[in-house]
Amino acid sequence: MAITFEPLHPTFVAECKGVDFSKVPLSDEDLQTIKDGIAKYGVLIFRKTGLDNERHIAFGRQLGPLDDVTPYNALGRKNRLAPHDELFDVSNLDENGNLAPATGTRAIFGKANALFHTDSSFNARRAGLSLLLAHEVPPNDVYGQIGNTEFADSRTAYADLPEETKEKIKDFVVDHTQLHSRRRGAPNEPLVWEDRFDPAKGPISKHTLVQTHERSGRPTMYVGAHCYRIEGLPLEEGQAIIDDLLKFSSQPKYVYSASWKQPGDLIMWDNTAVQHRAVQGPVDGKFRRDMRRVTVHDDSKLCRGLNGDDANWRVGLP
Ligand code: OGA
Ligand code: MN
Repeated sequence: MAITFEPLHPTFVAECKGVDFSKVPLSDEDLQTIKDGIAKYGVLIFRKTGLDNERHIAFGRQLGPLDDVTPYNALGRKNRLAPHDELFDVSNLDENGNLAPATGTRAIFGKANALFHTDSSFNARRAGLSLLLAHEVPPNDVYGQIGNTEFADSRTAYADLPEETKEKIKDFVVDHTQLHSRRRGAPNEPLVWEDRFDPAKGPISKHTLVQTHERSGRPTMYVGAHCYRIEGLPLEEGQAIIDDLLKFSSQPKYVYSASWKQPGDLIMWDNTAVQHRAVQGPVDGKFRRDMRRVTVHDDSKLCRGLNGDDANWRVGLP
């Protein structure tokens, strides 16, 4: 069966049909078709893949080296999905697989996921493709778009920026840290304001703001919630510019809201071309949402930004 792409938005996102995921590893030809599709669309939705943990990981490996989660994260939480250390647990479940309380540590740190972001931009080597697979989905007929994942088209938003903005931001270098997005995501939670979570004291990853997206050759801006400050500018001034860019790039015309219809649905996105966020709400603490992510390291020339060719550290909160 031929692989086809059905565009779901005027500028990005397509549903990809005709991939036989019972046959992973896929053929070189099918893989190349998918690579061409993700380069163009930035987000691909595959329905009812039937993938399990092993084939999910194997498919990811075909696309490049994977970011392996450590069995324990920085807060000492055991990865529920161990020994599959290639799977990021993006569920609302605790480490025993029970529904986590909506007020617990995991939920507090997880609130930042509701902000548009690019995965792992805070690590020495950033994420390229993310492959998120649904294992359990909340009933999306109860709360509408809550439980969806939304995407924002950074390439098109960049192209639409006023010329004077493009000129102003063209040489900016941005410091990324996950601690910043944790504070932005849950500003009323004392936990995130503890000194040990001060973004100014944690590891910083540096990336140019304006970049060429290598897979498509199109210019883009690499922005998201982990952007903490612009080098050479006072903190507040840099953050105001970042906030303006986040606001501009997440206007409804640049956003696509993807629903999860059933277990087995897979969404793949390119973190170097699009931003994404979870649409949170009453499902947390109420309905199980078990999503697992395979993360492929970026393999473009910009994968380590200005962090140095040997930089390999990674940080990780829940
Ligand atoms: C992720 C993520 C959003 C969601 O997996 O990186 O941000 O809707 N997920 O769960
Ligand atoms: Mn994410």
